[in-house]
Amino acid sequence: MKQERCVPRHVAIIMDGNGRWAQQRNQLRAVGHRAGLKTVRKIVTYAASIGIKVLTLYAFSSENWKRPPTEVSALISLFIYALKREMKNLNKNNVRLNIIGDISRFSYQLQQMISNAEQLTKNNSGLVLNIAANYGGRWDILQSTKKITTKVLNGEITLDDITEECLGLEMSMHELPDVDLVIRTGGDYRISNFLLWQIAYSELYFTDILWPDFTQALFDEAINVFNTRERRFGGILTQEHSC
Ligand code: IPE
Ligand code: IPE
Ligand code: MG
Repeated sequence: MKQERCVPRHVAIIMDGNGRWAQQRNQLRAVGHRAGLKTVRKIVTYAASIGIKVLTLYAFSSENWKRPPTEVSALISLFIYALKREMKNLNKNNVRLNIIGDISRFSYQLQQMISNAEQLTKNNSGLVLNIAANYGGRWDILQSTKKITTKVLNGEITLDDITEECLGLEMSMHELPDVDLVIRTGGDYRISNFLLWQIAYSELYFTDILWPDFTQALFDEAINVFNTRERRFGGILTQEHSC
């Protein structure tokens, strides 16, 4: 009997290739980022429609500050524009928005916008949309470690209380289902300091397609490939079929 296709609960995407997409068209890289935002809209809507519970998008890495200031400010302006423009719609569609990453480096105005957006949607029960902004997987492990260390120094816990679970509970998205599938567009085969702790047993899918060209059909293709993977989590296959 044919198994039903299983939809991953949590998909995380490294949306790469905007710059090259623009360069291929002799356009400024910022044009590629704007085209990338259009793909974000389509993919968010599609993810919700097929029953994905959590979608995590890598928008700006902790290393992306290394880019020319004009590109950094274009990216931040686009983030502000998207927050302003999309919030109503996201809220109407029952999406809960979270920003993960070190937002303390952003302007006060942007930090306020982020907090307002999170507040506005916090009771929504549909898709959870995490946007990783000034996010680094190493930063995440570090911030968790600092919180735990503070607890030890305050005498709230002892060294022996520090377990994987305890560290994991301070990591971004700990309250959400584990990441099942990581997709990277743009042709590179690396993680680029995206989620580290959280992808210990995620399935990885890489495609050469540049992010602005990514479509619902290509997303479907990634999910189909995910369905062919045997997830053993270090064990052996059992008869039980689970996603
Ligand atoms: C990904 O596209 C978006 C961000 C990093 C913000 P890039 O800008 O990295 O595009 P390429 O990889 O240079 O084509
Ligand atoms: C990863 O892409 C970051 C985002 C998609 C936001 P990069 O373009 O920054 O990654 P590298 O530099 O190719 O590793
Ligand atoms: Mg890139």
